[in-house]
Amino acid sequence: MSKKHFEANRFFLKDTIRQQIDFSRTAQSQGLPAPPMQKPCPADVPKIDLPSGKDTLMKLSKMPVGEAIAFRESVRQYKPDPLTLEELSALLWATQGVRCLVSPESALRSVPSAGARHAFETYLVVNRVETLPVGLYRYLPFEEKLAPLALDDDIGHKAAVACLGQNFIATSAVTFFWTAIPARMEWRYDLAAHKVIAIDAGHVGQNLYLACQSIDAGCCAVAAYDQSACDQLLGVDGEEEFTIYLAPVGKY
Ligand SMILES: Cc1cc2nc3c(=O)[nH]c(=O)nc-3n(C[C@H](O)[C@H](O)[C@H](O)COP(=O)(O)O)c2cc1C
Repeated sequence: MSKKHFEANRFFLKDTIRQQIDFSRTAQSQGLPAPPMQKPCPADVPKIDLPSGKDTLMKLSKMPVGEAIAFRESVRQYKPDPLTLEELSALLWATQGVRCLVSPESALRSVPSAGARHAFETYLVVNRVETLPVGLYRYLPFEEKLAPLALDDDIGHKAAVACLGQNFIATSAVTFFWTAIPARMEWRYDLAAHKVIAIDAGHVGQNLYLACQSIDAGCCAVAAYDQSACDQLLGVDGEEEFTIYLAPVGKY
């Protein structure tokens, strides 16, 4: 492979782009409104209350963080036991929970994010979570609720197919799918947004690994998937919002 072949993608990993951006012309500098911190959800969708994710995480965590780091591993085989709604809420809070509101357009969460722009939404393919019918859901972190999107007994299988036949995904209790809404980050960072979105996704994944470890669950990061099939599965447009990362979770 020639050096040229990798050039554009290597450039993405560098921060050279920052020197080329006129920050006086970003959407934020032009006074344009920030995109919403949470994708709007129609008021008439009946939402499911979650127990406090923060309290539950602290209550259920069985090990010091050092131990969780020491024993963290990718888990692709899951027990048939379901997750409880409390366990799910703890994992959701660990990955995208809101710690505090800073202003109408900015919040701090359980994970760091460049400029606190938090460009992700969380979708769940639920197979075995107590009290939740099998189907597709979206996490509403500012309300600590779930929005049911579709009840579908075959959703686990469809998710595995959309992930290039990685069949262990179909056996998870729940699979977390994260989408990126790049406009949230671009509003402040313009072309410097995209590298930090990718970095931010790593924080979310690692928090899921460590939180799973601490509650006797396991997960496996997945970044190999069919882009348009996953976007279609989640019902997102693939341009303004698209799948960026996912992780099946189960007891183990
Ligand atoms: C960004 C990223 C993408 C990954 N994608 C996949 C994947 O598509 N399928 C899979 O089975 N494992 C995937 N993994 C898991 C890695 O294979 C795993 O982390 C690696 O083998 C090391 O094992 P460990 O996590 O147990 O330390 C991914 C991990 C990361 C961090």
